[in-house]
Amino acid sequence: MNILAIDTSCDDTSAAVSEDSTVLSNIVSSQDEIHSAWGGVVPSLAKRAHQERIDSVVDLACKRAHIQLKDIDAIAVTYGPGLAVSLEVGIEKAKELSKTFNKPLIAVNHMEGHLLANFDGLTDNDKLFPLITLLVSGGHTELIFMEKQGSYKILGQTLDDAAGEAFDKVARMLGLGYPGGAVLSKLAQDGNDVQYPLTVPMREHKNFMFSFSGIKTAVLRLVKQLTLDGSKPLNQKQIQDIAASFEKTAVQHLVEKSESALKEYQPKVFLLGGGVSSNTVLRKRLRSMLKKYHIPLMYPKDKKMRMDNAGMIAIAAYFKALRGEYVKNIASLDRNPIATIEERLDI
Ligand code: KG4
Ligand code: ZN
Repeated sequence: MNILAIDTSCDDTSAAVSEDSTVLSNIVSSQDEIHSAWGGVVPSLAKRAHQERIDSVVDLACKRAHIQLKDIDAIAVTYGPGLAVSLEVGIEKAKELSKTFNKPLIAVNHMEGHLLANFDGLTDNDKLFPLITLLVSGGHTELIFMEKQGSYKILGQTLDDAAGEAFDKVARMLGLGYPGGAVLSKLAQDGNDVQYPLTVPMREHKNFMFSFSGIKTAVLRLVKQLTLDGSKPLNQKQIQDIAASFEKTAVQHLVEKSESALKEYQPKVFLLGGGVSSNTVLRKRLRSMLKKYHIPLMYPKDKKMRMDNAGMIAIAAYFKALRGEYVKNIASLDRNPIATIEERLDI
C-alpha cells in the first residue's frame, strides 16, 4: 500500500511517500531561516511559506519515491495538534488531492506520528507491546502507554513548558539564537554540569507530570546574577557551564518520571520520539536507567524522523488504514490545534 502524507503542523513543510510501514521518500522544507530572525515561529509567515512550498514538496516526494499521484492508494494529513493556520494549508492540499485523484483520506495526529516514527520498516511489531513512549518536542512533553497499535493512554505531560521549549528558552537567555536546543546541547559537552546546581522538579509529586518553568526561572536568575543584571556579558565558560547544568537537570527530570512510569506499567520496550530525542545526554541517561530493568530503548535512527516530518505521518496512516480508520466525510475534516493522541476522530 502506497501512502502520500503531508505535515504542515508548525514551521516545516513536509510530504512523504511510504510503502506499507516503510518510508520511501521524506521531503522537509524547513522555515528556520524565516523565523529565526523573530526568535520564534510567526504564524502568518509560516502559513505563507507553506502555501508557497507545498506543491513542490509534494511533487518531489512523489519523484523521489518514483511514483505518480494517480498510483497512490491513500492521502494522509496531520490534522493537529499544531498551529491552526499552518495545519489548514496541509489539510486543504490533502482534500484537493483526495478529490482530484479520487483517493481515500486518513487524518493523523501529529504526536501519533512522532511515536510511530519508531516503526519505520517494522513488519512484525506485536512483540513490542505493551510499550511506553516519551515524546519530547518543541510543543509537547508526554509519557504515553500503548497496549497495542491504536491504543494510547497519556500517563503524564507537562504542566507548563515543553522540554524542547525549555531548551530553546534557556538557549535564548544564553544568546544562542532560535531554535537553540541543539546548539545549547553542543556547548554543554564542554561544560561542567555541577558548576551551577539546579533543583530537579516535581520530585515530591508521585505522578508522571513534568514541569520546566522552575528550572527556566532558576537559570534566568543565575544569568542576571552573573551578568550583574545584564551589564556585562557571560563568558564562554559560564555559558558552557550553565548549558551543562541545565541540560543535566532537565534530562534528570525526564528520566526520573520515565522510570516511575515504567515501574508501574512494566513495558517491553521504551520508545523516544520528537525533536529532543536527538539529545545524546538524554539517550545515554535513559539507556543506563533502562538497563537496570532490561528494557531496550528505541528511537528513530534517522535524524529526520525525530524532527517534524511527513514520513512519520505516513507510517501512522498505514497502521490506521489497517484498522480501517479512513475519513468518511472529507468535507467535515478540520484542523484541531489542541488534538490529543487519546481522542478518536469520528468523521
Ligand atoms: O519535534 P520537533 O522537530 O518539532 C516540534 O514538533 O516541536 O522538535 C523541535 C524541538 C526544538 O525545541 C529543538 O530545540 C529541540 O527539538 N531539539 C533539541 C535537540 N535537537 C532539537 N533539544 C535538545 N537537544 C537537542 N540535541
Ligand atoms: Zn513535532
